[in-house]
Amino acid sequence: MSLPSSSSSSSHLTRSFLLSLLFTSIVASAFSDNEEAQIHHFQQYLRIRTAHPDPDYTAAASFLLSLAHFIGLQTLTLQFAPNKPLLLLTWPGSDPSLPSILLNSHIDSVPAEPDKWIHPPFSATRDPDTGRIYARGAQDDKCIAIQYLEAIRSLKRSGFSPLRSVHISLVPDEEIGGADGFEKLAQSEEFRKLNVGLVLDEGQASPSDEFRVFYADRSPWRLFVKATGSPGHGSRMYDGTAIEKLMVCAEAIARFRDSQFDMVKAGISPASEVISINPVYMKSGTPSPSGFVMNVQPSEAEMGFDLRLPPTVDPEQLKERINKEWVPSFKNMSYTLLQKGPIKDCNGKLLITLTNESNPWWPVFEKAVISSGKKLAKPEILSSTTDARFMREMGIPTFGFSPMANTPILLHDHNEFLKDEVFVKGIKVYESIISALSSFNLASSV
Ligand SMILES: *[C@@H]1O[C@H](CO)[C@@H](O)[C@H](O)[C@H]1NC(C)=O
Ligand SMILES: *[C@@H]1O[C@H](CO)[C@@H](O)[C@H](O)[C@H]1NC(C)=O
Ligand SMILES: [Zn+2]
Repeated sequence: MSLPSSSSSSSHLTRSFLLSLLFTSIVASAFSDNEEAQIHHFQQYLRIRTAHPDPDYTAAASFLLSLAHFIGLQTLTLQFAPNKPLLLLTWPGSDPSLPSILLNSHIDSVPAEPDKWIHPPFSATRDPDTGRIYARGAQDDKCIAIQYLEAIRSLKRSGFSPLRSVHISLVPDEEIGGADGFEKLAQSEEFRKLNVGLVLDEGQASPSDEFRVFYADRSPWRLFVKATGSPGHGSRMYDGTAIEKLMVCAEAIARFRDSQFDMVKAGISPASEVISINPVYMKSGTPSPSGFVMNVQPSEAEMGFDLRLPPTVDPEQLKERINKEWVPSFKNMSYTLLQKGPIKDCNGKLLITLTNESNPWWPVFEKAVISSGKKLAKPEILSSTTDARFMREMGIPTFGFSPMANTPILLHDHNEFLKDEVFVKGIKVYESIISALSSFNLASSV
């Protein structure tokens, strides 16, 4: 269910954009007036507090809608849960029957601890010496929302018009799982009508001068192991206590974890291409008023693990390993393995977006990045999960890409920042990408 709401423009806010353009023209800067306006829009968006647990989606939506109206985009506001607006902005193509491009960005961000920051996390302070703009969301991922919008503004001003339609989705709740955000959008009639052929979603900063691009997420699993055994006095040594059995299991898992982590440490595999497994809780013992009873060996023990599988790993092999090595049932241990989300798309294919000639969008995207004077690193799997999974589950190719080269990875960290020049260069990169993807006509192969 979605409730379309009013999309009338706010002339007051539109005037303030015009004023901001005029105002910035009198400030001396290494940037053009137009670039200063782009940076200013970024700062305005960063100052809206959309961090959990109480994101101000209303203020963010009103700001983004007024920027969209200023640029001249069509807007539609959907709402799949109260006070959680989801915006769809559209730049119609001259042939709307072609599969469209969707540029996605989430409006929300994770919380920040202000006392650990050198500038307040919602001030969007721009350091005059370094050009760093400090704010929660500067990298993850408010930068791309404004970059999409500014790239379209520039392309429109240059007289470019797209062949296929270009849509922007600005969605709530990505940082808390996306259940009232992209997940609902993906199931909606409005989404089906967009006829999306390719999605660009958030990526990650790159400390080198090569941009990073992501073609898959790792899938999150949860492993719960339970052991039961004979209880007994704390002083007795005997076989088959619950905790002793669980310790043997934990040791086997630790050896496996080392084997994976060693490949990362030796530089053989990126962290996102191995199986990660980390203990996240341990539960046992007999509570007493002062802590735990120390002279009783308990009859039950339990441990939980966070597991992340690259999409290329066969979960059946993992289950075999658990049954044979980690949790042998003859020892009276049991386990539950929970898979969070599907591991195949709606066509039964692996949840990956091809980054070779078999995906006709890939060479166009790659060429567009390179022709903007940039380098692209080898495509990667993302260690965590993003809204991109909802699109890949529907079989829609999705690249994770945030154009932040020469930038430390600071998402969810203290003092998250993006340099003004990196932000402005990113807009140029999107101009190249959006114009290439939206004018590319290979309808027969897409
Ligand atoms: C497993 O549990 C059963 C039933 O409680 C018990 O008879 C058996 O001895 C246990 N086996 C081991 C290896 O602890
Ligand atoms: C692209 O990669 C996929 C998966 O690795 C492979 O099956 C396919 O043959 C490749 N296509 C080309 C043209 O290399
Ligand atoms: Zn993000």
